[in-house]
Amino acid sequence: MQPFIKTIIPLSLLLALFTGCSKNTTSNTAGSGSAPSGEALLTGTELASARSNYTNYCAGCHGQNLETFVDRKWLHGNSPEALFKSIKHGFPETGMLAYDTTFTDTEITQLVRYIRQGVASGQKKQASKGKVFQAQDLSFTLDTVVTGLDVPWAMAFLPNGEMLITERSGILYRLTKDRQLQKIEGAPEVLAQGQGGLLDIELHPDFNKNQVLFLSYSAFKKEDGQTLSTTAIMRARLDGNTLKEQKQIFEAQPYARTRHHYGCRMEFGRDGYLYFTMGDRGGTKVNPQNLTVHAGKTHRIKEDGSIPADNPFVGQQGAMKSIYTYGNRNAQGLALNPTSGEMWLHEHGPKGGDEVNIVKKGANYGWADVTYGIDYNGTKISDIQKKPGVTDPIHIWVPSIAPSGMAFLTGDRYKGWKGSLFVGSMSFKFLSRLTVAGNTITGEERLLQDIGRVRDVRMSPDGYLYIAVEKPGIIYRLMPVE
Ligand code: HEC
Repeated sequence: MQPFIKTIIPLSLLLALFTGCSKNTTSNTAGSGSAPSGEALLTGTELASARSNYTNYCAGCHGQNLETFVDRKWLHGNSPEALFKSIKHGFPETGMLAYDTTFTDTEITQLVRYIRQGVASGQKKQASKGKVFQAQDLSFTLDTVVTGLDVPWAMAFLPNGEMLITERSGILYRLTKDRQLQKIEGAPEVLAQGQGGLLDIELHPDFNKNQVLFLSYSAFKKEDGQTLSTTAIMRARLDGNTLKEQKQIFEAQPYARTRHHYGCRMEFGRDGYLYFTMGDRGGTKVNPQNLTVHAGKTHRIKEDGSIPADNPFVGQQGAMKSIYTYGNRNAQGLALNPTSGEMWLHEHGPKGGDEVNIVKKGANYGWADVTYGIDYNGTKISDIQKKPGVTDPIHIWVPSIAPSGMAFLTGDRYKGWKGSLFVGSMSFKFLSRLTVAGNTITGEERLLQDIGRVRDVRMSPDGYLYIAVEKPGIIYRLMPVE
């Protein structure tokens, strides 16, 4: 790296975070013993540096696993000399930046070898699609639980071993033990447009006794010939394959014309209250820092929709009483950390800068004043990243992975993965395994590259990790191999 880059403190800090965090073992492309004939393999430190440069600067457009290079019809040639030129000088007219001020010639040469060796091993891998996935600390296979869905948004496990699945289009399914899908009647009417539709499902902590569940969704109304929408939560009792006693216990205000950033993941806290995330509805400048609207926040309510007396803004005039944190963008993952008892979430950043945050009562997470979003070639840094009174994320992804779904590993089935946190990636189509120590994230392993857009990630009560991918919608169970 040339010296001037190092003087940009926040960037180098970012990179330090990343270089320590990104290990791509299952998805390892280069360095797995495939060198084009006559070329020396990258050694350990060269490989680590090339991989981290590639991950930070190139993967956003060319794929974490060099997807756009494997089987490519090269436009400018793939000899070492041609690649070197492409990277150094770029093709400004097509969106490929020049990296001559970002990297030294040595670093560019390493990237060239990383790409050539990665392409060679990627082609090998395609030729021999094995069934056992070899991850860093564990091998596993995939059990295909159900196929034929479109966008399975969320999964919930019933005490009897069955599963409920929300489809964004508006259908709530029961998946029986013999893996048949049955439609459940009485789900809310949703506006299934854009990112909206039937969203999350959460069982009441006493579901066993009361069969009560909660559904989040995009509600809508007509006003002056326009259809407006918002995020809402329905509480209902499951009776066979019918929902009964449906009641809307939350309706975000105001409604909006947009069709995106609805949130809305839900999770019960140890305090017995329902926490949920509410996206900014696209009102970047007006919503997240404004306590008189629901959008761009996390909220906490009682199971009947009423407000806990000790919510942080109950005493503030004009503030929405359900607000628990603000300055959030569009969190698509929310999970109770079983070790600390705290609620964790992740949210989408603008361009780069997806975040993992610990949900702290009354905290401001800064959106849209403060963001870690940076330009892809690392030369420009947008906005500010820190501000007094703004809570820092504990992890960021640059470029952004479009995270969705979140689950802490519990139980003993996955020996090598104890204490890990799992997050799906929609844009890069992998399952992220984050290693966690207390309140810090110490590393990342990217599993199942190209499995599909991972929309939800859950642990079942009997200790298995499930993921839901979309378009085509498939639910998989990860089966550890001894
Ligand atoms: C913002 C998106 C973006 C980023 C980031 C990016 N590239 Fe590119 N890259 C492109 C585009 C677009 C092209 C042109 C493809 C075309 O002409 O069809 C390209 C072309 C290339 C080519 C030439 C491919 C050919 O067919 O001859 C190489 C090599 C390359 N990029 C390497 C890299 C490397 C290495 C990095 C990271 C240091 C990188 N790119 C970062 C978008 C990007």
